[in-house]
Amino acid sequence: MTGRCASSRSSGPSEMRILVVGAAGRLGSAVVRQFDGWAEVTGTVREELDVCDRRAALDRVAGLRPAAIVNCAAYNDVDGAEDEPVEALNVNAFAVRNLAEAARSVGAALVHYSTDFVFDGAGDRPYTEEDPPNPRSTYACSKLLGEWLARGALRHYVLRVESLFGSSAGPDRPTSVDRIVEAILARREVRVFADRTVSPSYNDDVAWATRVLLESGAASGLYHCVNSGSCTWEGLALEVGRQLGVEPRLVPVRMADVEMRASRPLYCALANTRLATAGAVMPAWQDALARHLAGRRTVTG
Ligand SMILES: NC(=O)c1ccc[n+]([C@@H]2O[C@H](COP(=O)([O-])OP(=O)(O)OC[C@H]3O[C@@H](n4cnc5c(N)ncnc54)[C@H](OP(=O)(O)O)[C@@H]3O)[C@@H](O)[C@H]2O)c1
Repeated sequence: MTGRCASSRSSGPSEMRILVVGAAGRLGSAVVRQFDGWAEVTGTVREELDVCDRRAALDRVAGLRPAAIVNCAAYNDVDGAEDEPVEALNVNAFAVRNLAEAARSVGAALVHYSTDFVFDGAGDRPYTEEDPPNPRSTYACSKLLGEWLARGALRHYVLRVESLFGSSAGPDRPTSVDRIVEAILARREVRVFADRTVSPSYNDDVAWATRVLLESGAASGLYHCVNSGSCTWEGLALEVGRQLGVEPRLVPVRMADVEMRASRPLYCALANTRLATAGAVMPAWQDALARHLAGRRTVTG
């Protein structure tokens, strides 16, 4: 157990035992924080539990007997996956099969996070859970396979998130939003995609929605777990500038003009209506951004 992601026991409203794997990641640390005080949380990092190790996963889960396993471990290097497809598949897909098997063996629910990248991005209205995926990269294929393998757990929640941002990212792991905020605060020019549309996901709101689903016993299945609304990266940067009261120096670029190893979807707003119907109404991304910026001000004084 690490200092960052230690187990905790509390007299919160639930005595549910939760295992969070990949707990040192951006989302993992937010999930541990969210559940702390409500459930008995065990967060594990890679050195404690390598999710690719089937035997270790089965043993850990058999020993702990959690009511839920929340999988925050992932291979997230979208371009790197083109060179390391086996590693990407192992972490993003076959490890999920391990966790689903482990969950099934003790009757636990499995929460698994996926991505907007499962879509080809050729749409022009927010994608719903019913829209057919069409992954265009090795990373995206590995994540889609992970979605399918998560269904091996009797009770499972596959939550598609995108463009994660939040306070738990840490200075050594800046998100795209962090890079934009830093540049605007430093009055530096910042290049932003003017034609890539996303529905950003605030870590704390994703963690909260995860808890709502587990707490309410919502139906198993696929949920788009993003903040409400959508924007281009240029639109997001303009909103950052507006909220900070700083005129941003933006250099708008088009996706087609930037050479990238792996293909990325151009239009990827996600509709989160199914999640709302299940009880987790996600705040607008502008609201999440305001909370994120307020949190940064608190930390930096
Ligand atoms: N970040 C985004 O914008 C984004 C967008 C769409 C979807 N998602 C999905 O959201 C979820 C959370 O993403 P994130 O941004 O929080 O990821 P992250 O910050 O990259 O964290 C992933 C964690 O997984 C750990 N990990 C990797 N391989 C492992 C293994 N074999 N066993 C155990 N742990 C392992 C990593 O440890 P090491 O540091 O030791 O490698 C890291 O702590 C993932 O499923 C991701 O695919 C993220």
